[in-house]
Amino acid sequence: MAKIKTIGILTSGGDAPGMNAAIRAVVRKALTNGVAVKGIKKGYQGLLNEEIIDMNARSVSDTIQRGGTILGTARCMEFMTEDGQQKGADICRKHGIDGVVVIGGDGSYRGAQALSRHGINTIGIPGTIDLDIACTDYTIGFDTAVNTAMEAIDKVRDTSSSHERCSIIEVMGRNAGYIALWCGVANGAEDVLLPEKYDYNEQAIINNIIHNRKRGKTHHLIINAEGIGHSTSMARRIEAATGIETRATILGYMQRGGSPTCKDRYYASIMGAYAADILCAGSTNRVVAYKGGTFVDFDIEEALAMQKGISEYEYEISRALAT
Ligand code: ADP
Ligand code: F6P
Repeated sequence: MAKIKTIGILTSGGDAPGMNAAIRAVVRKALTNGVAVKGIKKGYQGLLNEEIIDMNARSVSDTIQRGGTILGTARCMEFMTEDGQQKGADICRKHGIDGVVVIGGDGSYRGAQALSRHGINTIGIPGTIDLDIACTDYTIGFDTAVNTAMEAIDKVRDTSSSHERCSIIEVMGRNAGYIALWCGVANGAEDVLLPEKYDYNEQAIINNIIHNRKRGKTHHLIINAEGIGHSTSMARRIEAATGIETRATILGYMQRGGSPTCKDRYYASIMGAYAADILCAGSTNRVVAYKGGTFVDFDIEEALAMQKGISEYEYEISRALAT
């Protein structure tokens, strides 16, 4: 296999705290391996626009503690087309890039797969606050996001108790309820609504609120995942049905920002270095993962075919502990 001389790195899809730590690790490990690094700005869109910069060890100084992504990110429809993918691979060749590290979620992996089909070596790194990549037990950004959400919910809980209100707190996760589940358990919520589990039986929630109030609970916290949404109208209906003041708080994008936790920095650093090592060694069409307590890599096809779901047991625990 031809020796890799220059690699590119890009971040794609939703940003996640810890992406900078991953970029830093890729850059520094590749340089240590004697391979040059170029930064591709704004995901696949930036690749197609040839927004490509040279990177050295200093380019990533003072970034490990920063949220967001220094390279920027984007969603790019053109890259979903065969022509876009061919153009992307040609631009890589034009800039002497023979391998690309892609930090993002499942969608970004499909883009990496396409580049690989067009002759550019690719390695994916799992970066998403949603924890919804099946091949890995950990995704960069989840720990920071879930801690941000948990701290915010603790604050809502305080005022909710003081006013004896019911609170619906909406957390991120369009298709995945991991942030909602973890906060449900960690914040001691009375109800947790997950896209994977919710049966839309609002009457059951209303009955639960009335039952808990009779037992003397001063607040009622409902963690609602973004995928279910409609928290404000839900609050109005619950207030009308229970007679208990009910407020909705939508945490929104604050969950995607902020300085990464130690856990995110650590996983991002190891995964970034691992990705640089296997890419420099000639691997392609693979993703780095943390599985069964160790860092591993999978073929992208195999990784995308894996399934992951909310554990029934953990979901039941979240309900049992709230009684
Ligand atoms: P995530 O990587 O977080 O899952 P998206 O699903 O939005 O985020 O994907 C990010 C980007 O990856 C898309 O905007 C697109 O440029 C690229 N992408 C997604 N799916 C494909 C695909 N099937 N083929 C090629 N590129 C894709
Ligand atoms: O990055 C994951 C995520 O934050 C999801 O939880 C959310 O549904 C989605 O991205 C929102 O994406 P956008 O930035 O396009 O609004």
